[in-house]
Amino acid sequence: MWKLLLLCGMISAAPHENINYKSLNEFSLRLLDNTYAFNENFGKSNFAISPLSLWSIFALLAEGSSGQTCLELIKELQLPTELRATQALHLAAKKILKTQYNDIILKGQSAMFADCTLDIHAEFCSAALAYDTGIYSVDASNTTLLANDINYYICVATEGQILNAVREENLNNLRMVLIDALYFKANWTHPFDPTHTREEAFYNYQGKPIGTVNMMHHKAPHNLRDALHIDAQILELNYGTSEEFSMLVLLPIEGVPIKQLLNSLAYCPLDWLTNFRDEDNNVRIDVYLPRIKLSSQTDLITPLQYTGIQTIFDSKRAELPGVSDSPLYVSSTVQSISLEVTEEGTVATAATVVGLEDRVLGQRFEANKEFVFLITERRTNLILFAGVYQDPFAV
Ligand SMILES: *[C@@H]1O[C@H](CO)[C@@H](O)[C@H](O)[C@H]1NC(C)=O
Ligand SMILES: *[C@@H]1O[C@H](CO)[C@@H](O)[C@H](O)[C@H]1NC(C)=O
Repeated sequence: MWKLLLLCGMISAAPHENINYKSLNEFSLRLLDNTYAFNENFGKSNFAISPLSLWSIFALLAEGSSGQTCLELIKELQLPTELRATQALHLAAKKILKTQYNDIILKGQSAMFADCTLDIHAEFCSAALAYDTGIYSVDASNTTLLANDINYYICVATEGQILNAVREENLNNLRMVLIDALYFKANWTHPFDPTHTREEAFYNYQGKPIGTVNMMHHKAPHNLRDALHIDAQILELNYGTSEEFSMLVLLPIEGVPIKQLLNSLAYCPLDWLTNFRDEDNNVRIDVYLPRIKLSSQTDLITPLQYTGIQTIFDSKRAELPGVSDSPLYVSSTVQSISLEVTEEGTVATAATVVGLEDRVLGQRFEANKEFVFLITERRTNLILFAGVYQDPFAV
């Protein structure tokens, strides 16, 4: 197992009670929009992300960044420009994850696995501890061992819901891996009766049937509201007896495609959410919701690039001098999700794995795809031979 360098530090600063997550929510909804746009390239499928899990890791990396890398992270993650305020925001979010609830299980944990030959700056280690991130020293060149360690960590953190978050062959050349895992399990405040679940049709936004689902049904008191400026109807399904958590289901009004709704969510002010919270209009409603079971694994680099975070992924330009004297860049960002919605409630888990590699220093030329070659006389530039190499052939 890993050599434990430093155990999770105590959460020291008292989090602000009235912390505002508006900026974090804005980042979340933009990332959802961009992830949808990215996933569309691969056809339609169900997916989920945990922006919070991702945000935690990149907020920590922001503390070790400088120059353009830092500016992009501050702007797009919507971090307060003051370091302390970012940590306060993070601690407040962690506090939500660390609270004991009666009938809801919610936990989050994060770790930094660093190669034993990598010198990490003491300030960055302190920042990691402030983010409640355990620091482990590993031999990252042994990818078999590294994959086992990461998968074991995530398996335990997600109660066995996510088993193979990473594959050995994707871990080559990594110097550091940052992991964040979330686990949420809760029963509905008003469960659905399984005997009322029926197979029913499911439609596209133009009203054409495209398949069937197991539709759950109940009649129970819920918040329901029309949100006109995002063209959707919002239903809230609460969890647990204390109703401290809920699922909001946003259904586009007739004729509005999901893409348009995602775009409104990403760019309209979050008034629809605050207004929703301000008024309480619990009325008994007939609710029909499909049973959902999904597991997805999303490479989030492209969605983050769409969002405007680019330099940190650039092997030539990333600036993370606060992490280590060895120049590093983020070479992979993969999030695994496992989520199930049943008559009883919801189990949702996320694991984010961010890998850092040594930056490519100096120039590099790799003729590993089709190319043209010319043989010339240098003084006169006379071309003696011209050719194309495109058919790989080992000689
Ligand atoms: C949810 O309900 C089931 C039985 O209905 C119970 O066994 C389980 O402990 C409950 N889960 C939570 C998180 O309270
Ligand atoms: C990687 O670690 C495992 C377990 O310690 C060990 O058995 C294996 O020989 C190591 N592989 C390499 C290439 O060092």
